Amino acid sequence: MNSGNLFLLFFLLPCVTVEAGFFDFFESLFCSCHFDGFKDITIISEKDDLRHFDSKELKKDLRKFLYGQHIAKKTIQNVVSSFMEDSNPNKPLVLSFHGPPGVGKSYVTNIIARNIYKNGKKSKHVHTFKADYLFQHKEMTRTYQTQLREWIHGNVSCFPRSMFIFDKVDQMNPELIDAITPFLEYNHQLDGVSFNNAIFIFISNSEKDAIINLTLDFWKEGRDREEIQMTSSGLETQISQNIYNDKNDGFQHSSLLDHHLIDYFIPFLPLELKHVRQCVLSEMAHLKMNADKDLADKVARDMPFFPPEEKIFAVKGCKSVRQKLYAND
Ligand SMILES: Nc1ncnc2c1ncn2[C@@H]1O[C@H](COP(=O)(O)OP(=O)(O)OP(=O)(O)O)[C@@H](O)[C@H]1O
Ligand SMILES: [Mg+2]
Repeated sequence: MNSGNLFLLFFLLPCVTVEAGFFDFFESLFCSCHFDGFKDITIISEKDDLRHFDSKELKKDLRKFLYGQHIAKKTIQNVVSSFMEDSNPNKPLVLSFHGPPGVGKSYVTNIIARNIYKNGKKSKHVHTFKADYLFQHKEMTRTYQTQLREWIHGNVSCFPRSMFIFDKVDQMNPELIDAITPFLEYNHQLDGVSFNNAIFIFISNSEKDAIINLTLDFWKEGRDREEIQMTSSGLETQISQNIYNDKNDGFQHSSLLDHHLIDYFIPFLPLELKHVRQCVLSEMAHLKMNADKDLADKVARDMPFFPPEEKIFAVKGCKSVRQKLYAND
């Protein structure tokens, strides 16, 4: 494949996966391109997509729809609310979600987005990058870096309250993470654009073992998992420190950690049977089925659990719940 094709591929790939979509991407850049006449028109229409933020609504939404994640619930509630209610933040909000698969890390970004934008995660101001799918060609790192910078700069210059979600960031090339770093600094302006109102969320499975082991220890000691706090066994510090030392983690080699730009490392705990049961009931409601607690229990028990002897935590979290439900219907 020649370099021209590679360049084209880069443009096409995000079009399929980045939720802003192909034309929105160009529109976003276009909007940032100093065509002042157009800019005014675009900004008026974009404001329509912002909801009036209500912290009580966010709290209700998290309480009703996110199960078994008391730390994430409380932290997200507090930090997102404070940030949204701050009329003059001194840096963008930067969160990093960690934990095993299927426990709600990606899912909670839907809840955050729908409390900020009328179109929720479908808003063209929410940009999701899946690193295990995008940015695959190492030889194109420089091109990716430039385009990623332009994308972020262009969209924020047009719409300061933009949200950028980087999923599977542990698999992301550190040099690409470095390209994002300047946008996350305190009171940083690039070409007259401030990024202080933007939200950046990094999601990864890194540090899942530390999180699982701590939750297992609490269980073995007969303690309530709700007693686990960010400070338990220095959980938050442990997460940031372990990432720092993990040679295989994209984060580790990036300058993001050195510069201390992540505001919160948020642990997502492994889910237990009762949480999976809640997920099944929630799926039933979503599918407009009658709430059948016996069926929910059966479906939840059908899922694999670990460790092999104690069988406490769902191996896949709440993933595949709908498929299991179909199989049992
Ligand atoms: N804590 C939870 N509360 C409610 N629903 C959940 C929770 N965790 C997972 N789910 C359900 O399971 C689905 C899969 O979860 P999600 O995509 O958030 O997993 P994840 O933590 O991002 O996993 P991965 O690390 O593999 O990407 C969600 O769409 C949601 O329906
Ligand atoms: Mg996910």
